[in-house]
Amino acid sequence: MKLTDSLGRNINYLRLSVTDRCNMRCFYCMPKEGIVNKGHEAVLTYEELLLIAETAVGLGIEKIRITGGEPLVRSDIIAFLGRLSVIPGLRHLALTTNGLLLSEMAADLYKSGVQRLNVSLDSLNAQTFSDITRGGDLNKVLAGLEAAEQVGFPPPKINCVIMRGVNEEEILSFAELSRLRGNSIRFIEYMPAVKEDDWQRYCISGEEILEKIAARYTLEQIDKGAFSGPSRDFRIPGARGSIGIITAVSGHFCSECNRIRVTSTGQAKGCLFADAKTDLIPWLRPPDREGLAKVLRAIVSTKPERHDISQDGYTHTNFTMSQVGG
Ligand code: GTP
Ligand code: 5AD
Ligand code: SF4
Repeated sequence: MKLTDSLGRNINYLRLSVTDRCNMRCFYCMPKEGIVNKGHEAVLTYEELLLIAETAVGLGIEKIRITGGEPLVRSDIIAFLGRLSVIPGLRHLALTTNGLLLSEMAADLYKSGVQRLNVSLDSLNAQTFSDITRGGDLNKVLAGLEAAEQVGFPPPKINCVIMRGVNEEEILSFAELSRLRGNSIRFIEYMPAVKEDDWQRYCISGEEILEKIAARYTLEQIDKGAFSGPSRDFRIPGARGSIGIITAVSGHFCSECNRIRVTSTGQAKGCLFADAKTDLIPWLRPPDREGLAKVLRAIVSTKPERHDISQDGYTHTNFTMSQVGG
């Protein structure tokens, strides 16, 4: 079965957030203070998350990406992933993590049936990394990347948010990693989720990032696969990993968007930046599969054509990415 929205886009990908909690505090994702974690009763139980996943797969979703906050901080996450991975019809189960707990958890994650990992890593310099994440330990993440491969995962994709005056000098070092380590690197434009004053000062367009890389390396464009996300992908000839650009702000990948999102508190969103969300709780407590299927279909059919953020005019409500799952 195919899930198609009103513009004919095939929606085959669900981003499912399992927690808004995180063991880091990246400044572009969470404000420094004032974060109130959702109470236990507000956060969906694993049974409820599973019901959403099964219903979505029944409708035509073929790929689920587990996000957070940081998904690995939720207790019993491995058992939950194991149950997700055997949903009939689900073809891809992936997870986005900050990598801090990966060393300890990689083996269990692999056994649970998760097929691919994306790891957030914005700097290869320990101090810069700690500044961006407000205290994160770079070495733990690097060890996590190693561990993932040792237990059998393909080299994790690395998400790197490039910010002017913060880590822009590291663009080439990250590009080089695609050759040295074989990871695929995705350079992400800084998105104004936490709208701090003068947020535009951090913005570097995907085009500028690409120009910097192309000035040093030859880049071959790579075709997108069926489940490819917003990334435009290239390769340095001979490198095992690719180099992707996610033009979250300046780009227009919305016309190819294939995804919907559900937050850990059961808010479904047709678009990352849309203020509109649908509360799924009425169909979860008590569980109502048919009603849930109907409301998920409605979210798909009313999915906005595109987001309207840009560097100049921008009006969405402030949100923390950790609550939506990126
Ligand atoms: P793949 O499944 O490997 O393609 O991953 P992905 O890029 O969909 O997911 P990931 O969690 O690794 O996110 C990478 C970056 O892309 C994050 O910064 C996300 O916030 C951003 N991103 C993902 N989906 C969207 C989207 O629909 N719109 C925008 N603007 N950004 C997105
Ligand atoms: N801009 C760009 N990317 C962001 N992410 C979180 N917040 C932002 C933001 N404001 C990214 C993280 C992670 C992914 C899920 O979302 O770096 O890799
Ligand atoms: Fe945590 Fe990821 Fe947000 Fe950083 S981007 S604070 S690691 S949820």
